[in-house]
Amino acid sequence: MRLIEPSEFDQVRGREIPAHVALIMDGNGRWASYKGLDRTDGHLAAREPMMNCIDAALELGTSWLTFFAFSTENWTRPPVEVQILMDFATWFFTPETVSSLVDRGVRIHFIGDTSDARIKSSVRLRFHHLKTITSENSRLELVIAFNYGGQQEILDAVKRAALAGANLGEVDESILRRFFYLPTMPPVDLLVRTSGEQRLSNFLLWHLAYTEMLFLDTLWPEFSKGHFYTAVADYQRRQRRFGGIPRPTESRPVDTPIQGWAL
Ligand code: IPE
Ligand code: IPE
Ligand code: MG
Repeated sequence: MRLIEPSEFDQVRGREIPAHVALIMDGNGRWASYKGLDRTDGHLAAREPMMNCIDAALELGTSWLTFFAFSTENWTRPPVEVQILMDFATWFFTPETVSSLVDRGVRIHFIGDTSDARIKSSVRLRFHHLKTITSENSRLELVIAFNYGGQQEILDAVKRAALAGANLGEVDESILRRFFYLPTMPPVDLLVRTSGEQRLSNFLLWHLAYTEMLFLDTLWPEFSKGHFYTAVADYQRRQRRFGGIPRPTESRPVDTPIQGWAL
């Protein structure tokens, strides 16, 4: 896929922007091995591309941005790697980053099983603090999926609904949604996974029901603002049908691609 150029960013901005973009940041380990570094260095290198995405989302006016930071399955990794991933909030949310996010109207959320006893209480406290200090912001909802599993989220929602007295025989989508980790989180419009793997790895199973997906070979530490814009430009060429047929009045820009755009 051709990476678009900064001179084309304006064209992307002028078209339909996905309201919710989610990213499976994959390939940190391979990136580090190619450089002769430790896998943990690969995780630390995930920071800059995340900031690139936040910058691009703010420029484009995307309202929701969700990152997969740690899966319920990632506990099976070597302890040193789990440790660096557990410390995510420390090395990603530095004081400078937090103040820049606050200044730019970013609200921070965490989804996943953060009550898990394997997560240190200092990490939980940090999450709570970050959520609290940004709770008045509304320009960009930044969601970090941490100790997150899509199947577990659905199962937990069912359990919580039962505990809250819902009649499970009558549960519908709108009732169940109220018991998800973040009930206000809308379906994902665009999912991007890096590193060439083409699977969901138990990410946001409910919210991805009708998502447009893009799998890029780029390794996560090399994901730039240009990649984010390129992903959105690709999304703008898609025709979303949701089980229906295209409306006759609908003029998705399939026939008017960005100059030079080619797959
Ligand atoms: C993704 O990169 C990061 C997390 C799981 C948090 P990986 O560590 O999975 O990198 P690869 O897939 O081994 O290259
Ligand atoms: C998915 O990546 C999890 C995160 C990005 C947090 P993995 O690298 O863990 O996924 P698999 O094991 O290749 O499916
Ligand atoms: Mg991986």
